[in-house]
Amino acid sequence: MELTTACGEGGDELLQSQTLLWSQIFSYIDSMALKCAVELGIPDAIHSHGPHITLAELMSSLSLSPTKTPHMRRLMRILTNSRIFTCSGEKVYSLTPLSGLLVERNNNNNKKKKTSCLNGFVLAVLHPVFMNSFQSTSNWLRGNEDTPFSVAHGCGFWDMTHRDPEFNRVFNEGMASDAQFLMDVLLKDCGHMFQGLESLMDVGGGTGSAAIAVSKAFPEVKCSVLDLQQVVDPIHNEGEIDFIFGDMFEYIPPANAILLKVIIY
Ligand SMILES: C[S@@+](CC[C@H](N)C(=O)[O-])C[C@H]1O[C@@H](n2cnc3c(N)ncnc32)[C@H](O)[C@@H]1O
Repeated sequence: MELTTACGEGGDELLQSQTLLWSQIFSYIDSMALKCAVELGIPDAIHSHGPHITLAELMSSLSLSPTKTPHMRRLMRILTNSRIFTCSGEKVYSLTPLSGLLVERNNNNNKKKKTSCLNGFVLAVLHPVFMNSFQSTSNWLRGNEDTPFSVAHGCGFWDMTHRDPEFNRVFNEGMASDAQFLMDVLLKDCGHMFQGLESLMDVGGGTGSAAIAVSKAFPEVKCSVLDLQQVVDPIHNEGEIDFIFGDMFEYIPPANAILLKVIIY
């Protein structure tokens, strides 16, 4: 009542605009809550308890102190609002199709098939090194640097994966989880693309998820991966895939077909 008087006739409109603005300002909380859920392993805890779990059961299965119960309730409310979980009236939580993509363990109904899990992708894209570059967008637009990333960190993205082994690992695992997920779909819907090939070069193919998926589906195709040294070096390759390090802008080893899967944001 007081606010409406203070704002005059357009008070409702002003408050609506403020609410929308706040919703934009705080939208990062949804991403951070998602990251927290993955780090704590909440989707796995619900899945193994399944199909429903109470807040007290969840706290206990994650070994969290009961003193944190009110905070967990708020976290679960945020995650329920963003449809990561559902919540029945009695504070009983269940997975949704979204959080089904964040369950790490094998699908109980089909022990041989590991379900695709996008946890790695969540942790890579929400990594502070990645996210900090967005803080520099306005400075980047004002200045002459190539990318917001180089404004924030003083080096290019691939220089960072080279110089920071931990970020390199998290990023590569993230890319691998995304590639595994997409290759399942791609091979099911468009697998015919690979028929008749003798060799395939996955350029910038990371730790080889896509190449491994093609090789499993089409053992007759000789699959290789070209990537940077910091990606290829840690791989202890005992499989069918050849890992080659090099710069794709300098040389791409010959093959029947080239696969180039990148993420553009
Ligand atoms: C966005 S990731 C995509 C990885 C993989 N293709 C996928 O979709 O999951 C891009 C990949 O390209 C590699 N890369 C970047 N610059 C490269 C270059 N000049 N030559 C070869 N690989 C490069 C990176 O190391 C990284 O593994």
